[in-house]
Amino acid sequence: MRAVILPHTGGPEALVSAEVPDPHPSSGEVVIDVHATALNFADLLQRKGTYGTPASLPGILGIECSGTIHAIGQNVQGWNVGDEVCALVSGGAYAERVAVPATQLLRRPHNVDIIAAAALPEAACTVWSNIIDISGLAAGEVVLVHGGAGGIGTFAIQASRAIGARVFATAGGGDKMQRCIDLGAERAISYRDEDFVTIIRDETAQHGADVILDNMGAAYLSRNIDALAPDGRIAIIGLQSGRDAQIPLGRMMAKRGSLFTTSLRDRPLGAKARIVEGVRRDLWPHVESGRILPTVDRIFPFAEMAVAHRYMESGRHVGKIVVTVKEKHA
Ligand SMILES: NC(=O)c1ccc[n+]([C@@H]2O[C@H](COP(=O)([O-])OP(=O)(O)OC[C@H]3O[C@@H](n4cnc5c(N)ncnc54)[C@H](OP(=O)(O)O)[C@@H]3O)[C@@H](O)[C@H]2O)c1
Repeated sequence: MRAVILPHTGGPEALVSAEVPDPHPSSGEVVIDVHATALNFADLLQRKGTYGTPASLPGILGIECSGTIHAIGQNVQGWNVGDEVCALVSGGAYAERVAVPATQLLRRPHNVDIIAAAALPEAACTVWSNIIDISGLAAGEVVLVHGGAGGIGTFAIQASRAIGARVFATAGGGDKMQRCIDLGAERAISYRDEDFVTIIRDETAQHGADVILDNMGAAYLSRNIDALAPDGRIAIIGLQSGRDAQIPLGRMMAKRGSLFTTSLRDRPLGAKARIVEGVRRDLWPHVESGRILPTVDRIFPFAEMAVAHRYMESGRHVGKIVVTVKEKHA
């Protein structure tokens, strides 16, 4: 099969097309005929060699895809060859076929075409895990989504609205702020020239944010604590502003605040299965009702994977960048 491989780390040009052996399903797995994959921030880090990819992961990038089931391994129930699915993958989705644990499959929502469905699994699983499972966001609570116009952020805003929360989002300004509002944020905050702490506090009668989904890490920690409500929860999912920070425990304790850090990819299979089950139960009905839809910025053909990476690196996108894999869709 054809795949985009990474013979060595580097810039987008390091991604090259190659013929590689077809995957075969192990027990508990299916092989998907990939129609589309979607890019993630982690792909850029892995390509540059700064992700710290576990050694056991395949050398082919790509952590989510959509497609049809091509083959089914032993001990898999409830799925048939030809089923249209999207899937959370640990790697290998930049390819015509990928083997995936059946527990990481989601049925293609009836109202989302198979190409756009590739944009759903990673965002849905990250949002369910951090906003619903770990942070327990409830209706009427206030959530601050940093990076609201990104792939994760666009899903997080919609999911938080579907839960019935009040949503605030930070974004880089201009059109991105309007897009956050269109997706359900009651206020978009420019991270370039506005102070999110003051705005959150003023807009919530000094209550603050009950839940903060943070992609920034170190440089945002102190301000996130300032913006946090009593009994608030901060879920750090990204370290875009740095890895090391001092935790002001006194200020956290004064608010009875909780601080979580998570990473989806290197979790054990059982934990991923539980997350995907949670997505299926709590979020898929909102997708199928149209309350949460994939935000697809641009679709690139497989041959232009490097161009797609360059585009993501430019930071101009809103939502997800999708890459079609099957020629007929390119
Ligand atoms: N822990 C996990 O399990 C997990 C899973 C998935 C993703 N992530 C993390 O989630 C983050 C988003 O990933 P993605 O795939 O959605 O990437 P993405 O689409 O490229 O989003 C990156 C986001 O960062 C925002 N950003 C840049 N500078 C910022 C600042 N100073 N303040 C606030 N936001 C800022 C961008 O905002 P503008 O576009 O408005 O400039 C954009 O929304 C990444 O850090 C990624 O590593 C973590």
